[in-house]
Amino acid sequence: MFGKKKQKPQIDTDQLELIENAQKRIKQKKRLYVHFVVFLIGAVFLIAANTVLDIGKDFTLFGKEWFLFAILLWLFFLLYHVFNVFITHKFMGKDWERNQLEKLVTLQQNRIEKIKTELKKEAPHIAESEVYNETLNGKNKKSELTIIVAAAENDAIGKGNKLIWHLSDDLKRFKTLTNGHHIIMGRKTFESFPKPLPNRTHVVISRQQDYHVPHGVILVNSLEAAIDAVKNDAQPFIIGGGEIYKQAMAFADKIELTRVHESFEADTFFPKIDPSVWKETANTFHTKDANHEHEFSFLTYERK
Ligand SMILES: NC(=O)c1ccc[n+]([C@@H]2O[C@H](COP(=O)([O-])OP(=O)(O)OC[C@H]3O[C@@H](n4cnc5c(N)ncnc54)[C@H](OP(=O)(O)O)[C@@H]3O)[C@@H](O)[C@H]2O)c1
Repeated sequence: MFGKKKQKPQIDTDQLELIENAQKRIKQKKRLYVHFVVFLIGAVFLIAANTVLDIGKDFTLFGKEWFLFAILLWLFFLLYHVFNVFITHKFMGKDWERNQLEKLVTLQQNRIEKIKTELKKEAPHIAESEVYNETLNGKNKKSELTIIVAAAENDAIGKGNKLIWHLSDDLKRFKTLTNGHHIIMGRKTFESFPKPLPNRTHVVISRQQDYHVPHGVILVNSLEAAIDAVKNDAQPFIIGGGEIYKQAMAFADKIELTRVHESFEADTFFPKIDPSVWKETANTFHTKDANHEHEFSFLTYERK
């Protein structure tokens, strides 16, 4: 019933070549060793042939026995063999070494390129985490800075400085979660409210030094100053809008997102939630009904 699985080769061609060459090298050395042993036995045999068996007893060269010259000649061939194996070695010689080196260099270069590409992808997240750690942990962080937002499937959050939908349960959730806490917002979001929301401390961010805010509202000139102003609150919220969300993503610990399951035309959008930085920890679906024109889900994300 189940066909035999085709065996995949376990090693690549470069590794195979390396192994084959190593095997050839071993054979080459073995042959030299055998030659050496045969030489020793042969030399003893030649000496014995002459001195014991009296072969060529009367034959001498320059007054010396012939076996001496025979052994010297054989020794010359043996040394030539040694020279071939260890000095000129045809396998794993200079060309082979150069080839292997080139292969290794190419392999390393490919690896470096791969690491570079991966690093480029990771760099923004690393930088983001570093900013987060330096800014918050470095200041003995006590707060859980939470972004709260309602965004459509296409990340739309507002148009003409207004919200795009009215979802009463979403507003209830916003009120429950933010009740008694500091809420940080951009100047434009602040201006979209008819009046400050009750029982919350508003922190408004504007570059205008002389921007007028009602009594009790805190005006700051940067997001960092806003975060500093809320450091004694256990759970301050970033409530928008688009510009502030974009900058606050690097500092937040949590995102409370209401995902409206439709796409809308808009002029303000929520930034993409990167799954390599954020993990979803809660998800509750809400159907359409008399009070809710659109389906939506309450999602919670926490920094990994
Ligand atoms: N769906 C939701 O959950 C949600 C929530 C909130 C808001 N919204 C929508 O979002 C829209 C408003 O968002 P937006 O992006 O247009 O404006 P915004 O973020 O509310 O405010 C932008 C303003 O904040 C100030 N600002 C921004 N960055 C700053 C910095 N680094 N330092 C100092 N001041 C800084 C500037 O004020 P100055 O110009 O005074 O310098 C800037 O014009 C509206 O449509 C609103 O309804 C939607």
